[in-house]
Amino acid sequence: MSQVDLSVKIGKLTLKNPVLLASGTVGYGNEISNFTDLSRIGAIITKSVSLKPRIGNPPQRIVETPSGMLNAIGLANVGLEKFIEEKIPYLEKVNSTLICNIAASSIEEYVECTKTLDSQTAIKGFEINVSCPNVKDGGLEFGNNISVVGKITEKVREVTDKTIIIKLSPNVSRISDFAKVAKEEGADAVSAINTLVGTSFNIFTKKPKIFNVTGGLSGPAIKPVALAKVLEISRNVDIPIIGIGGIMDWKDAAEFMIAGATAFQIGTVNFINPRAGLEISEGLENYCAQMKLDKISELTASYLI
Ligand SMILES: Cc1cc2nc3c(=O)[nH]c(=O)nc-3n(C[C@H](O)[C@H](O)[C@H](O)COP(=O)(O)O)c2cc1C
Repeated sequence: MSQVDLSVKIGKLTLKNPVLLASGTVGYGNEISNFTDLSRIGAIITKSVSLKPRIGNPPQRIVETPSGMLNAIGLANVGLEKFIEEKIPYLEKVNSTLICNIAASSIEEYVECTKTLDSQTAIKGFEINVSCPNVKDGGLEFGNNISVVGKITEKVREVTDKTIIIKLSPNVSRISDFAKVAKEEGADAVSAINTLVGTSFNIFTKKPKIFNVTGGLSGPAIKPVALAKVLEISRNVDIPIIGIGGIMDWKDAAEFMIAGATAFQIGTVNFINPRAGLEISEGLENYCAQMKLDKISELTASYLI
């Protein structure tokens, strides 16, 4: 039996292991629960919720690409009221940490969503999505504007004491500047990265394969970019980083931790292998034992440059 301590700290939260399920890739937890044991996952991040329900973009909303996928779901979600009434009761029963991802089209909407959800005891923290590339109102424009990201963080901080994670966009020139402002305005952590803007054409119809024309690229194709962004933040800002982007197995996850991540999220891989989270956790435990690490947290930012 291995004695490795897999727990990690993100703000006020102690997670049983560093494996988090990325927003938008496991719905509200119930969709994936028949295929995996959610109680062995560090945290579940729910699909972005907005104040009002959103139907999202028309299809085609997903297309496969070399080593990845493009999606332009457009933040389809049930809205705050239904989320509380219909989704939280299930999530309350799952023995994993619940982090709620919030998307909005104005600073006021971010604040209202956070304030309303703050009283839900099942929710232990918030991931603020300032970086969705697939919506016209807000989304990327927020994630691209440093003073707006600062303002959102400041205002959301005023209405909750729970852990706040700002989810950063990779579609900026210096991501560490955004992490810095998030820290200054009271965020407990940042997650990096959301998807990269991409597109794809059908050469016979000459039309984009995605109705929205552009979508967010995820999967193994973005891993080196995501790793470089995590490293950049780690070298410039003292804040816990949750690494995301193309993690398919425990080796990818270890790379993110070495580059500076305290924890990491898995997204696209959940569609291929819903048990990936469990396999990654087991793989990391064996790896730590092999590397003679008592605690997985010793891996964080252990790169030698
Ligand atoms: C189909 C799909 C839907 C997504 N929806 C959201 C979302 O609602 N909110 C969000 O913050 N990120 C969303 N993401 C982004 C993921 O959480 C993650 O940042 C991204 O996919 C990169 O990780 P990966 O390469 O492991 O998939 C979505 C990704 C995919 C593939």
